[in-house]
Amino acid sequence: MRAVAFCGSARKNGNTALLLNTVLEPLAAVGVETELVELAGSEISGCKACMGCFKNKDQRCVFDNDVVNECIEKMAAADVILLGSPTYFSDISSEMKALIDRSGLVSRANGNMFKRKLGAGVVAVRRAGAIHVFDSLNHFFLIGEMIVVGSSYWNIGFGREKGEVAGDEEGMSTMKTLGENIGWLLKKLQQ
Ligand SMILES: Cc1cc2nc3c(=O)[nH]c(=O)nc-3n(C[C@H](O)[C@H](O)[C@H](O)COP(=O)(O)O)c2cc1C
Repeated sequence: MRAVAFCGSARKNGNTALLLNTVLEPLAAVGVETELVELAGSEISGCKACMGCFKNKDQRCVFDNDVVNECIEKMAAADVILLGSPTYFSDISSEMKALIDRSGLVSRANGNMFKRKLGAGVVAVRRAGAIHVFDSLNHFFLIGEMIVVGSSYWNIGFGREKGEVAGDEEGMSTMKTLGENIGWLLKKLQQ
């Protein structure tokens, strides 16, 4: 079993990455292979709406000059896909939006290629707008026939400077529970 987490923050090793790693920890503890992919520092641009993916139907974006096709391959190989974004002006980051639009369209062009995989969104926020970000992330999973796993609260962690979310006890506990719930469901699905 594999879980891949995509971090949409524009900065590496920030709060979103920390939250995602906290979800991955309980999964690794039960033997799931885990990987965190940070989009920060990678070239990634938005969908050009060329519809070439619908023409080619080859599970790839026509534009092969950035990380998106590598991300799509990692999604296709995983049983669990986590999307994490910081809150930027009450919305997801541009990096995450580009990944969602392009991988989402490639998925739709290929019969919903991530269907029945497990998914969950994770949000870092200083103060406000996180629910909107959470909703945006969930749209990716729910239009693609994926199974969204929940936690004891919506998957949000509060913090501003790098690492500050570690001080949000409830947020961190929500992430841990999310990882445990995903691990529990993976085990059930294997039975
Ligand atoms: C461009 C930008 C816009 C932001 N907009 C918001 C916002 O609308 N609401 C908020 O609470 N925090 C906002 N923040 C703060 C970040 O969401 C917060 O610092 C978060 O923890 C960053 O996560 P990271 O460490 O993974 O980058 C913004 C930060 C940046 C850089």
